[in-house]
Amino acid sequence: MKGIPIRTTRSYKMARVFPTDVNSYQTLFGGKLMAYIDDIASIAAAKLSRANTITASTDSVDFLYPIYMTDSVTLESFVTWTGRSSMETFVKVVREDLKTGERQIAATAFLTFVALDDHGRKTEVTPVYPETEEERKLHESAPVRAEMRKQRREASRTLAEFLTKRYPWEPQENGDSDEEGSLDKNAQPGN
Ligand SMILES: CC(C)(COP(=O)(O)OP(=O)(O)OC[C@H]1O[C@@H](n2cnc3c(N)ncnc32)[C@H](O)[C@@H]1OP(=O)(O)O)[C@@H](O)C(=O)NCCC(=O)NCCS
Repeated sequence: MKGIPIRTTRSYKMARVFPTDVNSYQTLFGGKLMAYIDDIASIAAAKLSRANTITASTDSVDFLYPIYMTDSVTLESFVTWTGRSSMETFVKVVREDLKTGERQIAATAFLTFVALDDHGRKTEVTPVYPETEEERKLHESAPVRAEMRKQRREASRTLAEFLTKRYPWEPQENGDSDEEGSLDKNAQPGN
């Protein structure tokens, strides 16, 4: 097999859910979980690249099951696939009811990291190979996801070109200021 086994990138994080971590439904706040996800996935990517890593994208995070204050939350991440300088990482979030031991997959996510050298230049990463059924499924399906990301990135760039960078209260480029309290109906995209 070419490269190194996916298992060497496996990374884990376990946490309790504290009252300061929950939303008004008393379940784990999505933003908190997303920070955990980025954190653990970056460790998996760093274990492979042994370089600086930067998050290039986060695919949709699917929140499948609520996580309660009586639960523990465990995040597992590993690199599923590599391009040249990019690494796809998968994150699986498991909630466990600490009283009953019952577990559910609470969320899943795919993130892509790019390896950078000490001068901030993209650097090549070693390919990974799967050993378990779970790893194989994720590894084999990765090129399709990578292609979808490429298309999405192009669409995001096109959208970014269209979007205004001007705040509503700022004058337009020609110096005219908007009437107080009114929205600029003539705003030009890309200003
Ligand atoms: C991600 C980033 C380094 C890519 O740099 P770039 O000069 O545009 O690089 P390229 O187009 O050559 O892409 C480099 C690699 O990243 C991949 N990539 C770039 N953007 C991507 C995206 N949105 N999703 C997935 N992969 C992406 C490319 O496919 C390529 O992969 P490969 O080397 O395996 O073939 C650059 O866009 C960047 O710095 N973005 C900001 C990242 C950041 O600040 N993250 C923290 C967010 S708070």
